[in-house]
Amino acid sequence: MGCPQQRAVDGGHGSSLLPVSQWPLVAEIVSHLSQNLKVPVWCKLRLVAGNKSLTHKLTALLADNGCKLVTLHARYASVTRRRQGLADLNEVKILKDVVTSIPILSNGNVRTLQDVTKNLEFTGADGIMVGEALLANPWLFEGKEADSVGIIREYLDICANVHADAFSIPSVRQHIRNFLRAK
Ligand SMILES: Cc1cc2nc3c(=O)[nH]c(=O)nc-3n(C[C@H](O)[C@H](O)[C@H](O)COP(=O)(O)O)c2cc1C
Repeated sequence: MGCPQQRAVDGGHGSSLLPVSQWPLVAEIVSHLSQNLKVPVWCKLRLVAGNKSLTHKLTALLADNGCKLVTLHARYASVTRRRQGLADLNEVKILKDVVTSIPILSNGNVRTLQDVTKNLEFTGADGIMVGEALLANPWLFEGKEADSVGIIREYLDICANVHADAFSIPSVRQHIRNFLRAK
């Protein structure tokens, strides 16, 4: 319940499932999955627009329907560009205080390993998810300095030798572009 892209909204998934009107459907999906899958069901959401307590209520509803963990990307779905503002980690902190029945993961704003520590200390979350920074530096969680050339060499080696049939040139090009963003 995080993706705000138009195609997700048009398809009735991603952040289009956040409004209260969709909650019966969300409850049905999560309940059905959690009763029929052998793996635990986890959900990731953005902030629910409107009253601030709606995000807490949705999280509690997910937990009541068998969801075992929630990650909050603390931006509204209306924020589709990173430059429109930082994730509001205070909302993660509040959610963690309000919903105690399942683990809460924090998501947003991490660019370095130090950000991971600061984020967890501030929010009190049970863990963290990182997206974009890992595209530039997959070694982030090891605390290693990003080294574009080293990462590119390692990545190309994997492409050529480990899963040679699983890579398309456009995706390889995209990843190399991301690695070159690392400083
Ligand atoms: C390449 C890419 C693909 C993503 N795909 C999804 C997705 O399918 N569903 C989703 O909820 N969020 C998706 N996100 C958003 C991230 O999971 C994350 O919530 C967001 O980037 C904020 O975290 P960050 O600041 O660590 O990047 C994607 C992000 C990136 C960079």
